[in-house]
Amino acid sequence: MSTSLLITAVLVTLVAGTAVDGCPPAERAALLAFKAALHEPHLGIFDSWTGNDCCHKWYGVSCDPDNKRVADINLRGESEDPIFQKARRTGYMNGSISPAICKLKWLSSVIIADWKGISGIIPKCITSLPFLRILDLIGNQISGEIPYDIGKLSRLSVLNVADNRITGRMPRSIANLSSLMHLDLRNNLISGTIPRNFGKLRMLSRALLSGNRIYGQIPYTISYIYRLSDLDLSLNRISGSIPESIGKMAVLATLNLDGNMISGRLPATLMNSGISILNVSRNAIEGNIPDVFGRRSYFMVMDLSHNNLKGPVPRSIASASYIGHLDLSNNHLCGAIPAGSWFEHLEASSFVNNDCLCGKPLKTCKVD
Ligand SMILES: *[C@@H]1O[C@H](CO)[C@@H](O)[C@H](O)[C@H]1NC(C)=O
Ligand SMILES: *[C@@H]1O[C@H](CO)[C@@H](O)[C@H](O)[C@H]1NC(C)=O
Ligand SMILES: *[C@@H]1O[C@H](CO)[C@@H](O)[C@H](O)[C@H]1NC(C)=O
Repeated sequence: MSTSLLITAVLVTLVAGTAVDGCPPAERAALLAFKAALHEPHLGIFDSWTGNDCCHKWYGVSCDPDNKRVADINLRGESEDPIFQKARRTGYMNGSISPAICKLKWLSSVIIADWKGISGIIPKCITSLPFLRILDLIGNQISGEIPYDIGKLSRLSVLNVADNRITGRMPRSIANLSSLMHLDLRNNLISGTIPRNFGKLRMLSRALLSGNRIYGQIPYTISYIYRLSDLDLSLNRISGSIPESIGKMAVLATLNLDGNMISGRLPATLMNSGISILNVSRNAIEGNIPDVFGRRSYFMVMDLSHNNLKGPVPRSIASASYIGHLDLSNNHLCGAIPAGSWFEHLEASSFVNNDCLCGKPLKTCKVD
């Protein structure tokens, strides 16, 4: 080894300091405090969390290769990992998420998912992690509110707290999450309205808010989110009418508004849009089904059941490219069901419980 190489090697060792024998002690201590607040009785996933180097073989922990700081906590209770296969069970943990994780300033992802029993709140200090991109806490029993200043997380692209017991309303600052692509708040106890400036979330592609207690109207600004492909507001307490602009959204493919208190008429734009899964079942939608179906109408699912729709099944529906699952039942429709090639596979259940529909697949219409 030449003298200069030797000097370089010595320098590198000195500069790297403690990193040579592992992660910084403060980060190791933060992880151990995080572990101490949890209890995992069956799999022993924390058994590997020993020794000085928390960047080396600690289950679910990984570090930035350059600065050796903890970058990811990835603990999933439902996984194909050998630990789970050997134990032949899914994971369970109780306890809570310690605020100590907020000392891990380089965290980019926090995935603590599907452990079923983790309770407590989302640590408020989580909003002080400047590099956080993924926060995924799905499938636990986490309560309390989403931190009011969540909007500070300018890099956050995934916020998933579905299947928990989150209360409170959606913080207004959520609209400031300019990198957010995937928002999943399904099946919690979230109330309040959808922030009016929700449309600021220009990167958002999936907004899943189903199964909460959200009320008020659908803000028309939602239609400004041109990357939005999946909007699920089902099973809430949403009222008002469906903004017409929603049917004009460029890439919206799934629209689930079922199980709310939506009234008004069906916007014609919905029948002839890029939407392929449309469920507005169990609302109070009235008026006729717009007679504007055409070649662009391609529906895997179109469920308009349990509303107050009246008038005929529109003639143009036969010119739709495809409707796989159609449900017009439990409305006040009346008249002859139009014939059409894709109608052949439909059963009577698609049309039952209306006022006076007739024709295949229901009873033949009376000729007068
Ligand atoms: C976690 O569950 C264990 C039983 O597996 C129980 O003894 C313990 O009290 C629970 N801890 C918390 C914080 O709920
Ligand atoms: C959103 O960000 C802007 C600019 O940083 C700030 O002025 C505003 O207060 C934030 N809104 C909320 C509700 O936090
Ligand atoms: C539409 O929503 C209703 C009410 O939530 C649900 O029962 C039904 O299964 C959904 N339809 C389809 C085709 O998924």
